[in-house]
Amino acid sequence: MSSPPIDTTAGDNLRWQQRSLASVWHPCTQMRRAALAPPLPIARGEGPWLFDYEGRRYFDTSSSWWVNLFGHADARINAALKDQLDRLPHVMLAGCTHAPAVELAERLSALTGGALGHCFFASDGASAVEIALKMSFHHWRNVGRGAKREFVCLRQGYHGETLGALAVTDVAVFRDAYDPLLMRTHQVMSPDARQAMHGETASDVAARAAAELEALLASRHDHIAALIIEPLVQGAAGMAMHHPAYLRAVHALCERYEVHLIADEIAVGCGRTGSFFAFEQAVAPGQAALWPDFICLSKGISGGNLPLSLVLTRDAVYDAFLDDDAARGFLHSHSYTGNALACRAALAVLDRFDEDAVLSNNGLRAAELTAALAPLRDDTRIEHFRQRGMIWAFDVREAYAGARFAERFHLAGRAHELLIRPIGRSVYLVPPYVLDEPLSQWLAQRLIATLDSVLNTSTDDADRAPAPPLA
Ligand SMILES: Cc1ncc(COP(=O)(O)O)c(C=O)c1O
Repeated sequence: MSSPPIDTTAGDNLRWQQRSLASVWHPCTQMRRAALAPPLPIARGEGPWLFDYEGRRYFDTSSSWWVNLFGHADARINAALKDQLDRLPHVMLAGCTHAPAVELAERLSALTGGALGHCFFASDGASAVEIALKMSFHHWRNVGRGAKREFVCLRQGYHGETLGALAVTDVAVFRDAYDPLLMRTHQVMSPDARQAMHGETASDVAARAAAELEALLASRHDHIAALIIEPLVQGAAGMAMHHPAYLRAVHALCERYEVHLIADEIAVGCGRTGSFFAFEQAVAPGQAALWPDFICLSKGISGGNLPLSLVLTRDAVYDAFLDDDAARGFLHSHSYTGNALACRAALAVLDRFDEDAVLSNNGLRAAELTAALAPLRDDTRIEHFRQRGMIWAFDVREAYAGARFAERFHLAGRAHELLIRPIGRSVYLVPPYVLDEPLSQWLAQRLIATLDSVLNTSTDDADRAPAPPLA
């Protein structure tokens, strides 16, 4: 289907929408449907707000897919970027090095107490996952255990959409079409606490999930290279949250069966769950830390300014690649690896964590928004209200949701100054770390108003109705 001709007399918003639909193939979008729910044209951003071309504002409830940690166009990060731009935007990292990459690797290593002291850079989250999978397999090969070439992942897990990352992903809508192209992997039970059966606690569900993993590792560990998980929150599953006991359990199992543990913290890292790395919550504060073998980071690390991802790993992995033979090294190469601008943005993000006591401040801000959302806890139209750190979610009961719930909610959100995209029937907030009490009150009130307007609307015409005008 080709696009309709562009109406040159239309307003600015409409013209950008039309030109976009004519030439841009949007991600995560059924383009036929996009004509009915056209992309929101955004002219500029400021803090948590996005502004369209006609000056209307929208609160960015997902921090633009978890990347804009401190909102849009943050002055301090921008200043660092402008400084770096005049010095060195980029130089290849093979055969060269530069201060932003070195300092970033050092500071991230320090955040793991030196446990994960080796940092490999890439650009997007899926690439970081590819790197961790390749490194794990190659490590075992280099130490003479090449039979360890299988990967274990969790049901409902999501790790990105390149072929390797998709092979360890279990979200049907993204995966199914490509299944014939994907390597075979083992999928084990998700510890998603929503699965609790009568009388079960979240930690019972975690124990059940760990037991299923143990059964697999006990029989197959000689062939398994690594387990990959999203610690604490499976994002694309609709913010499926689990008990931290699961992290302790899988850490112990991976150690016992000599299987690498890959923590995909692409979404949940950078303070999102309350600690800088989600995996820190495997133990109670004050106890000796437990670290996985690999941590993948991306999204928020560069504050939503430039694409950056990285994989942190420990000495034991790194050392297995040291050899005179180039082929035993980790030769994975990517043109923009360690991009100086992106690394500099990440350093500015880490500075903000230090200068503004972001983690403790977020604790206070999270309590305020949780309190403001309290009416939802008793709302019989929803279930599984949940929160961890700076992530909130609830599920609209099937009986109330109606057809195309996520799309209708998204469009209604626009009318309430919210940019919000539910996943199926799961509505979630992953706001930038710039909340204050009045803003939390406002956000909760608009969220509840959006919910009311969607659930009070007939869904009969949901398939045919065009998007309401931007207003
Ligand atoms: C847990 C997780 N892993 C990997 C990815 C892939 O990251 P990217 O979209 O940058 O490739 C995502 C993206 O949403 C994610 O949430």
